Amino acid sequence: MKRGRPAALRCLLLLRAPALLLLLRAAAVQGDCGPLPVVPRAHPASASAGSTSFPENTTVLYTCDQGFVKIPGKPDAVVCISSRWTDIEEFCNRSCEVPPRLPYAILKSAYISKNYFPVDTVVEYECRPGYRKKYPIQSGKITCRDDLTWSTPAEFCEKKQCPNPGELVNGNINVTTDLLLGSQIFFSCDPGYRLTGEASAFCMIKGNAVGWSSSLPTCIKIICPEPPQIENGRIVNEEDTYEYRHVVTYECNKGFVLTGKSHISCIVRDDVGEWSDPPPTCRVKSPPVIPPQKPTTTSAPAAGNRPDTRTTIKSTTASEEKDLASGYRTFLYGVGVGVPVIVCSLGLGVYWWIHRTSGQYETYENKESNVICHNLNESDATSEITSSDKLKKDTCV
Ligand SMILES: *[C@@H]1O[C@H](CO)[C@@H](O)[C@H](O)[C@H]1NC(C)=O
Ligand SMILES: *[C@@H]1O[C@H](CO)[C@@H](O)[C@H](O)[C@H]1NC(C)=O
Repeated sequence: MKRGRPAALRCLLLLRAPALLLLLRAAAVQGDCGPLPVVPRAHPASASAGSTSFPENTTVLYTCDQGFVKIPGKPDAVVCISSRWTDIEEFCNRSCEVPPRLPYAILKSAYISKNYFPVDTVVEYECRPGYRKKYPIQSGKITCRDDLTWSTPAEFCEKKQCPNPGELVNGNINVTTDLLLGSQIFFSCDPGYRLTGEASAFCMIKGNAVGWSSSLPTCIKIICPEPPQIENGRIVNEEDTYEYRHVVTYECNKGFVLTGKSHISCIVRDDVGEWSDPPPTCRVKSPPVIPPQKPTTTSAPAAGNRPDTRTTIKSTTASEEKDLASGYRTFLYGVGVGVPVIVCSLGLGVYWWIHRTSGQYETYENKESNVICHNLNESDATSEITSSDKLKKDTCV
């Protein structure tokens, strides 16, 4: 129950031990003060509380019972003077705990060092640095209620907002949440640019207001070193500076062959510009080697030999085609001339034979020979013949 007593007692004994001993010795002679007065909500802090006799000038401290708080300014001790204890009023009262700590507000200075908050006490908060009053304005006050709890505070302050960070030239600002106190924004540069400065900033308290922890970085254009010069060749498109993605083209002098890449480009690695490939080299052109009549050769011939090879292939193929075509044409010609001659001869033979034996089937036989001769005419691709008489006279006779 009396948690505070041993400590208080020790303190008292340390401070007043010599005096107390002296007084106790004197009291044996005089024996002035009787039992200690009863103080509501408090108890004597001294071990001699149970004594019935106290010497002159004895001082006894009281301590509030648990759950009660000393009222500031009221005495908490009695002294034995002239065989009487000095007067003591009730000095303990019910009190709320120290007001709660709020994330957005702090107690006004008038209440900060207090610890006595009887029922109905009102304390007032003000916005923390970096916060401002919220609209509509709400009370920043709380009251100690009858059950010794504080009324629930309204969240009457809000975070202040940092100024708009603006634009990052050739870069980007990533606002992940907002621009309010405590937020962080991230900076990045476009490809080909290097970030110089802080990569992020916090919205923090600056004096009476809020501001960014660092200023905007800058995005600096990344430049590649001068492209290497090569022997027996040159750079076709030389420039003063070579930016990211710039392509440089190499060319060999006459009589030299380029090995490697003729184009190299400016790339960025770890924020540093460098060339994508080593420069090419130029070597003396070797004398052209013409492969012996082997059109299917694929083993990379010297650049000069290529057209020759191709021509050879082409001419060979063309002559072959030509030979084939002429043979075919000769064959067709033979058929076209030979067959009609044979068939017409046969037809004439038959005609002659029928006319010699009988005139009965004249019409029929005429028709047949007409058909034959007409067909032959068509295959020869000459003029069309419609009249059977004409055909008979012109072609078949
Ligand atoms: C104790 O607190 C109550 C409530 O605030 C008050 O009315 C009363 O006067 C206080 N007592 C003393 C002794 O101050
Ligand atoms: C912004 O940053 C966050 C976290 O770092 C990332 O997830 C997001 O993709 C970024 N947005 C842009 C537009 O860069």
